[in-house]
Amino acid sequence: MKGSLLATAAALCAQEAAAQFAQAAMMRFQCSQLVIERLDPLVNPGLLPSTHLHQIVGGNSFNASMPPVEYNPAEKSTCTTCDYSEDFSNYWTANIYFRAKNGSYKRVPQLVNLGLQGQGGVTVYYIPPYDGKTKVTAFKPGFRMLVGDANLRSSKGMQKQICHRCEHNIQQNPFGGAPCTGDDTAAFPSKPCPGGIRTTITFPTCWDGKNVDSPDHKSHVAYPSSGSFETTGPCPASHPVRLPQLMYEVIWDTREFNDPSMWPETGQPLVYSMGDATGYGQHGDYIFGWKGDALQRALDARCSGNRCSVLKTQTTQQALACQKKPTIREETEGWLTAIPGGMTVPM
Ligand SMILES: *[C@@H]1O[C@H](CO)[C@@H](O)[C@H](O)[C@H]1NC(C)=O
Ligand SMILES: *[C@@H]1O[C@H](CO)[C@@H](O)[C@H](O)[C@H]1NC(C)=O
Repeated sequence: MKGSLLATAAALCAQEAAAQFAQAAMMRFQCSQLVIERLDPLVNPGLLPSTHLHQIVGGNSFNASMPPVEYNPAEKSTCTTCDYSEDFSNYWTANIYFRAKNGSYKRVPQLVNLGLQGQGGVTVYYIPPYDGKTKVTAFKPGFRMLVGDANLRSSKGMQKQICHRCEHNIQQNPFGGAPCTGDDTAAFPSKPCPGGIRTTITFPTCWDGKNVDSPDHKSHVAYPSSGSFETTGPCPASHPVRLPQLMYEVIWDTREFNDPSMWPETGQPLVYSMGDATGYGQHGDYIFGWKGDALQRALDARCSGNRCSVLKTQTTQQALACQKKPTIREETEGWLTAIPGGMTVPM
């Protein structure tokens, strides 16, 4: 009896969270694919190629080396793949490959999220607290951070709010439930997903107020000391400055890989580009690059969606015209004998 009451209360909480998520004013916009290649200026600066493949979106000054503190993409970029044309930030994630029964790999294509236009890439969110009034401080020039850990192969030590959602229909409702609620899993879904897979990668929301970076790219930021960001849980004394909640959403179109006869006998066929077949290694990287005070203005004005009177925007054609030639020449598409970097995963 007590158990079922608790279960009901939990379900109501999840519903409430979903409703709040749906109603909250939050910036949600498309950043189309800039380039797919093995570069990682945050974790492998200057390394050509870096250890594993990424998909990168945002400003076109993305480079193997983007020196800490001084490098400001807003000054070096001439265009961006994002809807908001003053956002030259770089956002990047790992890629997903399908591993067929015969040991061949093929990159899983991506879809643009519901209500947005462009090509592949990432839906970027800057989310203020749901109460509609708590002030947040925009990131400063030079700011960068990493969430998740490419080396993890179990849930032990995972950061919060990094999930996969197995979608039942391709026209997924972006507000079908707050991220990491319901059936969302930290690991890859274990069964075919008729509507593809939605991944959400959410960053910490408290800052030490001093350092724009740290050796692990994580310790200058922290999670609220109690409660959640959404309900304005307090930031710890060590990290008192409240940041907007940055979240990436990626829609992986697994439909061409859902035929179980293609799946390896061992089951779940998806592999992150680090050679991770568990899904626990999912991670996201960020280098701030908004022009001037544009992001602070947008946060103060409680901008919502991908159009806002205090920000400049561009057309989908303009965003797609922004490109960067790959620095690393290697095949990433079609059926491959290994994931770029020579990675294979035993069956
Ligand atoms: C990218 O890095 C190369 C050196 O590796 C440098 O020559 C080039 O100017 C850099 N591009 C930008 C936009 O910083
Ligand atoms: C491996 O399997 C896939 C999917 O069934 C197929 O399209 C591909 O051609 C195969 N590759 C080889 C080398 O047999």
